[in-house]
Amino acid sequence: MEQIWTVEPAQGKDAATMALLSRNLIEYGLPWRWTPGRLRRCISHPDYVALTARHGPTLGGFAVMQFYTRRAHLCLLGVVPSLRRQGLGGRLLNWLEESCRIAGVFDVELEVRESNRGAVRFYQQRGFVTAKRIRHYYTRGEHAVRMRHDLRRL
Ligand SMILES: CC(C)(COP(=O)(O)OP(=O)(O)OC[C@H]1O[C@@H](n2cnc3c(N)ncnc32)[C@H](O)[C@@H]1OP(=O)(O)O)[C@@H](O)C(=O)NCCC(=O)NCCS
Repeated sequence: MEQIWTVEPAQGKDAATMALLSRNLIEYGLPWRWTPGRLRRCISHPDYVALTARHGPTLGGFAVMQFYTRRAHLCLLGVVPSLRRQGLGGRLLNWLEESCRIAGVFDVELEVRESNRGAVRFYQQRGFVTAKRIRHYYTRGEHAVRMRHDLRRL
């Protein structure tokens, strides 16, 4: 199953689908911030790496990372429910973390809903540790955890 999904850089034409995936898989219950226009700008912006996992025109997953001088922020990572636990999320994150290493950026951070135990577990498996609990981080008061991965370690 895994082989049919190709991980590659997103294209401008993917922006609308990525935005819908973000709204449904990640931003559910929150105001929609990752709109098609914002994603289109990210895809073409040099400070971002935006990826898709695709089979022909179908997107099974996607990810967006923003690069700063000394750190990178994982903005979005999502895999459609029917394709989870098959390694796609890991492949997307591998690509992004390899991009970090090549860019000489070794600190990766992200925020995730505290209640999202599956995602927290996924990141822990990948070497992320919880740096901070942020109370009421999201609109409507949900708490977040900030997680960090030091890529100097394995
Ligand atoms: C988090 C997410 C991207 C993981 O994608 P995925 O393709 O299922 O991840 P992988 O198959 O590469 O998982 C690798 C390992 O992470 C761990 N893991 C992944 N999902 C897990 C879960 N729900 N519960 C516990 N462990 C999990 C497991 O150790 C897994 O290996 P295994 O399946 O052999 O046990 C996916 O669950 C998702 O899209 N969730 C909704 C969106 C989201 O929460 N995004 C993150 C916040 S932006």
